[in-house]
Amino acid sequence: MEFKTIIEPFKIHSVATIAMTTQEQREKLITGVGNNLFSLHSDDVLIDLLTDSGTGAMSRNQWAAIQRGDESYAGSPSWFKFKDAVQNLFPYTHVIPTHQGRAAEKILFTALGGPGKVIPSNTHFDTTRANIEYSKAEAVDLVIAEGRDPSSLHPFKGNMDLVALEEFIIKTGVANIPVVMMTITNNSGGGQPVSLENLKAVSAMCKKYNLPFFLDACRFAENAWFIREREAGQSECNIVDIVREIASLADGMTMSAKKDPLGNIGGWLALNDDALAEKCRNLLILTEGFPTYGGLAGRDLEALAVGLTEIVSHDYLKYRITSTAYLGNALSELGIPVMLPIGGHAVYLDAKAFLPHIPALQYPGQSLAVELYKVGGIRGCEIGTVMFGRKPDGTEVAAPMELVRLAIPRRTYTQSHIDYVIEVCAEVHKNASRLRGYKIAKEPASLRHFTSEFAPL
Ligand code: F0G
Repeated sequence: MEFKTIIEPFKIHSVATIAMTTQEQREKLITGVGNNLFSLHSDDVLIDLLTDSGTGAMSRNQWAAIQRGDESYAGSPSWFKFKDAVQNLFPYTHVIPTHQGRAAEKILFTALGGPGKVIPSNTHFDTTRANIEYSKAEAVDLVIAEGRDPSSLHPFKGNMDLVALEEFIIKTGVANIPVVMMTITNNSGGGQPVSLENLKAVSAMCKKYNLPFFLDACRFAENAWFIREREAGQSECNIVDIVREIASLADGMTMSAKKDPLGNIGGWLALNDDALAEKCRNLLILTEGFPTYGGLAGRDLEALAVGLTEIVSHDYLKYRITSTAYLGNALSELGIPVMLPIGGHAVYLDAKAFLPHIPALQYPGQSLAVELYKVGGIRGCEIGTVMFGRKPDGTEVAAPMELVRLAIPRRTYTQSHIDYVIEVCAEVHKNASRLRGYKIAKEPASLRHFTSEFAPL
C-alpha cells in the first residue's frame, strides 16, 4: 500500500529554537534595517528561506564524522575519504577542494578566462557570471525559450538551446571559447532541471568542436531525480548511475558543497585535463590552501564525504522534490502566481503578477519580500530589479522577471512550517492591492541588493 503522505525520511536529533515574534515587532525590526532582509538578525526570522546554501541540517552521521576529522596539513585521511566520495559519483582524475563554489569558479576562470574569451551556459549563476566577467571574459546565457517563460510547463526548462549554442560556437569561433558550462539544476532559471538527452547533445556538440564541457553541479542529485521522474526510460534507474552518466558526459565540474553535498561549507573543482589541473592547483595554493584540504578543515571534508552518500538516497530525493512541489503547488492552487513547474530547491513567487500595480522601478519583489517578513516572519529573497536593475553604466532598467525566491534549506523545516508559509502567503495575497512600492534611500557602488536601504513610497 502506498500512502499519499510522503513523510520526512528523518527524525529530529537536535533542534534550534525559533524565537517567536509579533507582526508589530517585525515591522519595527525591518524598518530599523532600511527594509533590507539581508540586514536582519537571523534570530528575528521565523522561517528562513533566504537560501538553501549551507543552511541545511547535517545528519548525526555527519556530526560523528566531524569528530573524526584529521587536521594534518598534507595527506590527511579526511582528504582521502572526501576525494573517494567525490570520485565515486564524479570519476574525474583531479579533485581540487575549495572553501565554496565561487572559489572553484574563481580558479577555473582565472585559468581559462581573460579578454576576448566568451563562455556560454544554459544560465550562469551570478557568482559564475561575476567571476567570468572579473577575468574580463564574457558570459552568455543560452537556455531554451521555455526557460524564460514563468508559465511554461516544459519538463526540462533548464535545457540549453542547441541551435543557439551551435550558432554561437560558429559565430564566436572555437578559439575564443575556453569552456562550455551547464548549471544543473538551473538556479537562476528557477531551479529547473536539465534532461540527460540535452546534456548528451551538448556533450556531443562540444566533442564535435573540440571544446571542454564543464558542469556547475551544485544541485546534481535533485537534477538526477527529475531525470528519473520525467525522462523516458529512466524511471527504473538508480540515482548514482544517473549521476555517473551525467559526469561521464563532461570534462569537469565546479561545485558548491553547500547544496546537495549537505555541507555547511565547501566546494570543489574536478577535471580530467592534467595541464589545466596543474595550473588550477597552483592557483589553489595561492588563494585557498594546500591541495589536500584547499579551503577546508579536515572535519568539513569528513562531513561532506558522508553527505555525498546521503544525498543520493531515493527516499530523501523523493521527499525533497515532493516537499518543494507541495509548497509551490499549494500556492498555485490558491491562485498565487508562482514560476511553473516547481523546481527542486525553491519556489519562486512571480511578484510582477502578484503586485501588477507596482512598476518594476518601484521594486515589486522587494515589496512582497518585506511584506512576507512583516506578516509572517518569513525571509525570502528578491530576484528582480533590485538585484539586476543597476547597469555598469549607471542606468537603471527593469529586470526581465520580478521574482521572490523561497529557497528550502535541506532537512530543516517540517510540513507544518511549510503549511504556515502557505497561510502567510495567502494572507499577503489577499491584501496585495494595499502594498506599495519602495525607493532606494541608500545604494552601494555594486551588488546593491545586499546592502541598499529602502524607503516605502
Ligand atoms: N553555482 C550555483 C548554481 C549556485 O547556486 C551557487 C550558489 C554557486 C554556484 C556559488 O556557490 O555560494 O558556494 O560560492 N548559490 C547560493 C544561492 C548562494 O543562494 O543560490 P557558493
